[in-house]
Amino acid sequence: MKSKDIKILAIESSCDETAASVIGVENGQPKILSSIVSSQVDLHALTGGVVPEVASRAHVEAIVPVIAEALLGGQKSEKPDFQEAIKILQDEIDYIAVTSGPGLIGSILVGFNAAKTLGFALDKPIVPINHIEGHIYSVFSDKSAKIEFPIISLTVSGGHTSLTLIKNHGEYETLGETIDDAAGEAFDKVAKLLCLGYPGGPIVSKYAGQFREKSIKSEIIFPRPILNDGTFNFSFSGLKTSVLQKVIDLKKEHGNDLSDEIKQEVCAAFEDAVVDVLVTKTLKAVGRYEPKAVILAGGVAANRRLRGELESKINSKKSVDFLVPPMNLCGDNAAMIGLAACYHILRNDVSTWQNIEVDSNLELN
Ligand code: KG4
Ligand code: ZN
Repeated sequence: MKSKDIKILAIESSCDETAASVIGVENGQPKILSSIVSSQVDLHALTGGVVPEVASRAHVEAIVPVIAEALLGGQKSEKPDFQEAIKILQDEIDYIAVTSGPGLIGSILVGFNAAKTLGFALDKPIVPINHIEGHIYSVFSDKSAKIEFPIISLTVSGGHTSLTLIKNHGEYETLGETIDDAAGEAFDKVAKLLCLGYPGGPIVSKYAGQFREKSIKSEIIFPRPILNDGTFNFSFSGLKTSVLQKVIDLKKEHGNDLSDEIKQEVCAAFEDAVVDVLVTKTLKAVGRYEPKAVILAGGVAANRRLRGELESKINSKKSVDFLVPPMNLCGDNAAMIGLAACYHILRNDVSTWQNIEVDSNLELN
């Protein structure tokens, strides 16, 4: 372990959030000193999803102010003091961490090139980080989270759904992943076909909760795709098609303008199916690999139903910890990239601007 205190500037731009963060490391323990996320959600709500070209242009506009705001202590500002920010970067930052994949290539490149340029101009070492690894390490923002291996992580976001066995820091084995849509993508698509807006996860989850509050039994049950196929893979595209078919049938019966009550019931049945599959497969992996802890991470980890169900099932197994990031670190952010980078730095796994590469399909292994 490195004893010298260090500071990391972390940058993330792999999808539709431009983010930067400063992480301080004291006695091997990381702490988030600032975290700025500039969201493009309003922009993509206009088209009901992320248009890659639009996303990368928005990253180009946001990246420098976001980095400056993170360096200046984490306050969003109309006019950041760029000169002061560069001075802090020069004098106080020891490493620059950046997402190098997976994600939208045009988006990743914006943050990546910013990191590369700063590394070159200021002669700072670079730590390239896998975005999924970042999501996993978001749980270690909590100092009290014990790090004991092996760990199983269920990482669920708009672009990824995977079960990973973590044998040690930096040692990963993918046990299973989605063979078609990601879980978050399914939430987004269901929201779109019910005309509920973008991003779909929070609104579908809200509607599902409103149905459950009524404590009535649902008439709708959706399939649990590949639940018992003997693998740790997932599939959500058929589920989305079942929801579409159900919505078509309901429109035939009730007219094209479905009431909120009907939409709430569809959302609850859909959420139940997704959560059931995710929780069941995670528990099977726990049975097989007997981990010390289970991590739930990624944008869909903000889903209260999923957090609640998984937590109660894991807590009933006395020897397994359940680790989940706080709500503000579930979605994309740069603090998680800095947290993952901390453990790369502690084992001297760092690079230079000449030796780093982007990979939009980067695997975690
Ligand atoms: O991790 P993230 O911010 O971006 C990616 O790496 O993809 O995840 C975004 C995804 C979106 O699909 C969004 O609909 C979903 O996370 N999401 C949720 C919830 N909040 C966000 N899904 C279900 N329930 C939620 N409460
Ligand atoms: Zn993500």
